[in-house]
Formats: sequence, structure tokens, C-alpha cells
Amino acid sequence: MKQFSLMAGLLCAGLMLNAPAHAAKTYQVGTDAAYAPFESLNSKKEVVGFDAEVIQAIAKKSGIQVKLVNTPWEGIFEALKNGERDIVISAVTITPERKQSLDFSEPYFEAKQLIAVANNSKISKFTDLKTLKVGVQTGTTGDEVVQKLQGKTSPNIKRYESTPLAIKELQSGGVDAVVADNGVVVNYVANNASSKLKTIDDATFAKEFYGIAVKKGNKDLLDKLNKGLAGIKADGTYDKIYKKYFGK
Ligand code: ARG
Repeated sequence: MKQFSLMAGLLCAGLMLNAPAHAAKTYQVGTDAAYAPFESLNSKKEVVGFDAEVIQAIAKKSGIQVKLVNTPWEGIFEALKNGERDIVISAVTITPERKQSLDFSEPYFEAKQLIAVANNSKISKFTDLKTLKVGVQTGTTGDEVVQKLQGKTSPNIKRYESTPLAIKELQSGGVDAVVADNGVVVNYVANNASSKLKTIDDATFAKEFYGIAVKKGNKDLLDKLNKGLAGIKADGTYDKIYKKYFGK
């Protein structure tokens, strides 16, 4: 009898180690961490930034566990579709096309496109870029607006795998301008005093809204994210994070 209960006890302990009955799922969160101040890697290769803090606050609020995983922009939505990632928070603009194949949370940030040029450039507005070389991050809304101006097949649209790469190409004179999200362009220029770049705002750029994406139909997770988002907006956490990164 004694031996039996010892055996049973060991068996139980073994089962608990192998399959903790109540361990919550950790959701894998994809983000292209070359996009400060929204997402970047610190010296310990951890994902930090506005989006990182927002998703962690949402997770805490709605009682879920998340792990941020640096994920290249190209393929980031595919990783949601094939289940490698459960959530994508990556300064993703909610667009009608993307909504056909993904589900988005309520908007959590307003943005728009911004032009970067050399500080001695004569370019003053978006239409000036009609026949010039323009750097964009592949498949972003920046890419889309330049396609609208120049035509989808324009050879003057130069595509890069990250926005910082496009901006570096601008600094070395390989392109005449870069079109990208305002927050990232402003951040780059502000933190690279020697960049010799200036920014140009154009009134024709539409408002964009960032959303958190999940696989189409993952309503359960989306509800949790929306509840958490509403919660951190209501309790002041969102405002605190916003202030930390963007001032007022
Ligand atoms: N907001 C733009 C878009 O959705 C650019 C986002 C790029 N994000 C990133 N982490 N690289 O197309």
C-alpha cells in the first residue's frame, strides 16, 4: 500500500511536470523590431518601445501571457496565418485590403505618412516625387502611397526590407526621398543629429490608424485584446505610455 501511494505520488508529480494542467498559453507576438520608437531591440536583444509596452499592458490587464518575437516585416502576416505568431503588433496600419485576410483590434494609435529628404533638397511636396527615386519599406502603406503617385510598376520606387535601411540609402544619396510613418521618420531625424535630413509633411496624406492583428476568425483572442486595450485606456496606463514616448 505504501509502495502504491509512493508510486502514485511520483506518477502525479511526473504528470504535473510534463503537462501543468493550468499553465496558461503564452501568445507569441510578432513585431518587426527595426521601427523605433514603436519597436526596436535593446542591447540585450529584447524588444522595447511603445508597441511593446502597449501589448504588455494589455496582456496584464486581460490576464494573458505574451512573448514578443522579432519578426521580419515581410512575412509577418503570413506568420499569423500559419500559426507561428498569435498576435502582430508592429505599427500596422488598418487597411481595407489587410482586413480581408486578418482581424484587427480597435485602433490604438493615429499616424500618417511623412517625407524625408536631404536638408538641402528643393523637394517641398509629395507630388514633387512623381519622377524621383523614392525609398520605402516593402509592402508598407508608404509603399502604397508612392505606388499611387508613380504607378505600381514604377522603377523609381526603391524597396527596402526595413525603414532604417531606406533612410540610410537616402543619407548616402541612393534615393531622393523616403516616405514612411511620421513617428519613425521624426524619431530617426531627432536621434541622428548628423543625419542631414529634414521632413516634409503633405496635407494630402490620409490619417492612418494602427491596430493589433490576429488570424482571421480568432475572435476569442481579439476580444481579450480589445478588452485589455479599453482597460488600459480607461485606467490611464495607455496615456502614461503615450506620454513616455511622444510627450503630451
Ligand atoms: N504603418 C505602416 C504599415 O502598416 C508601416 C508599418 C511598418 N512596421 C514595422 N514595424 N516595420 O504599412
